[in-house]
Amino acid sequence: MHTESERNITKIGIGSYGIGGRGHKDVELTELQEDQVYVDSLVYTLQKGVNFTEISLGYGHGNAMRLFKVALDASGVARKDLFITNSLYPRDLPNFDEVKEDITGFYRVMETDYADSTLVTQSLVSKFGEAEVYPFLHQLLETGKTKYVSLSNASPDFIRAFHTEFGDKFIAHEGHLSFEVRALQDKGVFETCDELGVTNIIWRPLRRNMTSGLSWPLLAELADRYGKSQNQIVLNWITHFGYHPMVMSTSKEHIDENIASTEFQMSNEDYRRLNEFRPPNYNPPEVDWDKSGKGDSIVVLVTDFEKHIAKS
Ligand SMILES: NC(=O)c1ccc[n+]([C@@H]2O[C@H](COP(=O)([O-])OP(=O)(O)OC[C@H]3O[C@@H](n4cnc5c(N)ncnc54)[C@H](OP(=O)(O)O)[C@@H]3O)[C@@H](O)[C@H]2O)c1
Repeated sequence: MHTESERNITKIGIGSYGIGGRGHKDVELTELQEDQVYVDSLVYTLQKGVNFTEISLGYGHGNAMRLFKVALDASGVARKDLFITNSLYPRDLPNFDEVKEDITGFYRVMETDYADSTLVTQSLVSKFGEAEVYPFLHQLLETGKTKYVSLSNASPDFIRAFHTEFGDKFIAHEGHLSFEVRALQDKGVFETCDELGVTNIIWRPLRRNMTSGLSWPLLAELADRYGKSQNQIVLNWITHFGYHPMVMSTSKEHIDENIASTEFQMSNEDYRRLNEFRPPNYNPPEVDWDKSGKGDSIVVLVTDFEKHIAKS
């Protein structure tokens, strides 16, 4: 996966949910800081060479995209040296006309004439139907408005069907993997993408620093052995498999720590132990891929990890 200027994407990407406040359009924003805090951290990250992100007009009620554009201009980094995925999340988009408006908004706010990729979730396709969504994505591809298409939070079967529809224009799947929540790993999502040549992008890899807060014995042991932080152990493990985690941070210290997490090697035995770890006494509901009502969406499963482990 590479930018328009043929640069491979970096091992770690920029998480943009949380920039300009946490929240989608349907909820109040929380953790809102001064605009300059976000701009400074984004400029710092971009100038360090981190070159891909996933962004949505729904993030921070539009603040994330607005501030990202301010930071991109201030950074001196060229648009063609970045891979930007424009994401469409169903919770921000009550009807299909708003999908079209949202797309137009991306080109306007980012002052660009293309998205490197346009992302839909399995639940968005279920909500509006393949007959509406697929021709629309094909049209974006044919007109050059998007170079590729991406999928998020999809089951292996859905990933295969999407690949049949879009072939090698289907560039990436964005899924969750963290030390504790392995639902997508166990369902074979990452393996399926590897087999099809679809890049695995990982969202919320640090569970917003909550993993580190629990200080699991295995992470504490490996952090001690390699002289790294627990977050670095997690990011190193994820990138070792060729997956690309996106991390959000407003702290230069954390940004440096996250970038440096890819610069060391652990033993194969330690990667195996990390891969095989599962939290004891954790029995989450099934994954609900398309809002069928059975189980929880992967986003809710991740958010509710502490609740499920506390119950069991
Ligand atoms: N496709 C989807 O459904 C989906 C869902 C959720 C998220 N996403 C994407 O995935 C991205 C990443 O997820 P996320 O932002 O929710 O979670 P995350 O990246 O796991 O965690 C971000 C939080 O962790 C802190 N942090 C980052 N690096 C740290 C470090 N080295 N040490 C201590 N704390 C650290 C940050 O605080 P500081 O600012 O203090 O560093 C921030 O509060 C999002 O921004 C979004 O782009 C996609």
